[in-house]
Amino acid sequence: MNFPHQTLTVALDERSYPIHIGCGLLGKPDLWRPHLNPKMGAVVITNTTVAPLYLEKVMATLATLGCPAFSVVLPDGEEYKSWETLNTVFDALLEHRCERGTTLIALGGGVIGDLVGFAAACYQRGAPFIQVPTTLLSQVDSSVGGKTAINHPLGKNMIGAFYQPKLVLADLDTLDTLPPREMAAGLSEVIKYGLIRDETFFGWLEQHAEGLMQRDKTLLARAVQQSCAHKAEVVARDEREAGERALLNLGHTFGHAIETGMGYGSWLHGEAVAAGTVMAAILSQELGWIDTGAVERVKALFLRVGLPVAGPWLAATPEASAGRYLELMRHDKKVSAGVMRLVLLKAVGHAVVSADADEARILAAIRSGLAAEADPAAIPPTGF
Ligand code: NAD
Ligand code: GLY
Repeated sequence: MNFPHQTLTVALDERSYPIHIGCGLLGKPDLWRPHLNPKMGAVVITNTTVAPLYLEKVMATLATLGCPAFSVVLPDGEEYKSWETLNTVFDALLEHRCERGTTLIALGGGVIGDLVGFAAACYQRGAPFIQVPTTLLSQVDSSVGGKTAINHPLGKNMIGAFYQPKLVLADLDTLDTLPPREMAAGLSEVIKYGLIRDETFFGWLEQHAEGLMQRDKTLLARAVQQSCAHKAEVVARDEREAGERALLNLGHTFGHAIETGMGYGSWLHGEAVAAGTVMAAILSQELGWIDTGAVERVKALFLRVGLPVAGPWLAATPEASAGRYLELMRHDKKVSAGVMRLVLLKAVGHAVVSADADEARILAAIRSGLAAEADPAAIPPTGF
């Protein structure tokens, strides 16, 4: 498809960087040139799924730019967002005698982006890095804003750093090969922006849900652009999540409990966020802030793109499951001095960070947001 690419800026003074959004960007050296130092070289870090699809194209662009480069191909999966995998990246960088000026290029989804970003933050106390997100979720969310991390068995994203990339290059053509389940998971984060701060955008998504799932490039370009614009604006105002940025975590505290409780990789991040957002909406309704119609509107949009609207049981009964969610949610980074702060809805298009819900209410909302039945095979062992 031939339409001009769009460029946004994440405005962070001397750490500002562009986000390019469009088609064919992997093969446009001019977009890469200002952010690479050919004398220092580059390493492209990707995984076994993405490498056969896009690595050659990126290596060819680097060659055109006269930038010496090698690649590291990691195993694919959320379970590899770990210390062990991070160490294999450090091993490769040291074996190739990479210096502090070597650019790390993250080619892949949010797992690769988060892990490579954290590697860049740590390597020789900070190496430049470029995000080349290839999933919808990473194009609209994880590649922008500098949150980098790996998981710990006791909690998602618990070991990490704020570390901004030099460039984000979101090539919409890479979405052609993305499985439908991953497209839906990405739309979960797109819908999030509508819910937290833009009712008009939420309405536009209601109009175009099917077209987006069918990967209409014009619609995708708008969805990615609007999402990144929202994220860039919030990050520029609150880079380190002292306040407003926490709103971007709508559904995430519940969702992280699902991801950790089910074992990493079982539920996709975007799926867990969708079911978690429904729980947040139910809790907002119980606090009297939104009505049933708003909760149903949220569920309807998730359902139309094939996302789950109820959480899995994490134990043998709904009551025990709700207790397990709460236990896992207490590990969340938004828990401060023992007070659980949740992102809740005052309206579609208006989220707030709130400590208004007591534990009894939170438990009741989780209970209401659980699937009607357990999938016995899916109930993980507790207490790891
Ligand atoms: P992912 O990185 O696991 O990618 C999903 C799957 O798609 C993987 O199997 C991947 O190999 C494959 N894939 C990637 N690009 C492809 C393509 N173009 N064609 C075909 N297959 C492709 O998952 P994700 O949804 O991109 O990211 C989820 C991760 O992002 C989670 O770890 C989550 O915690 C993190 N995250 C971080 C932030 C942040 O601000 N840093 C925000 C949201 C999510
Ligand atoms: N995905 C939430 C954030 O970047 O803050």
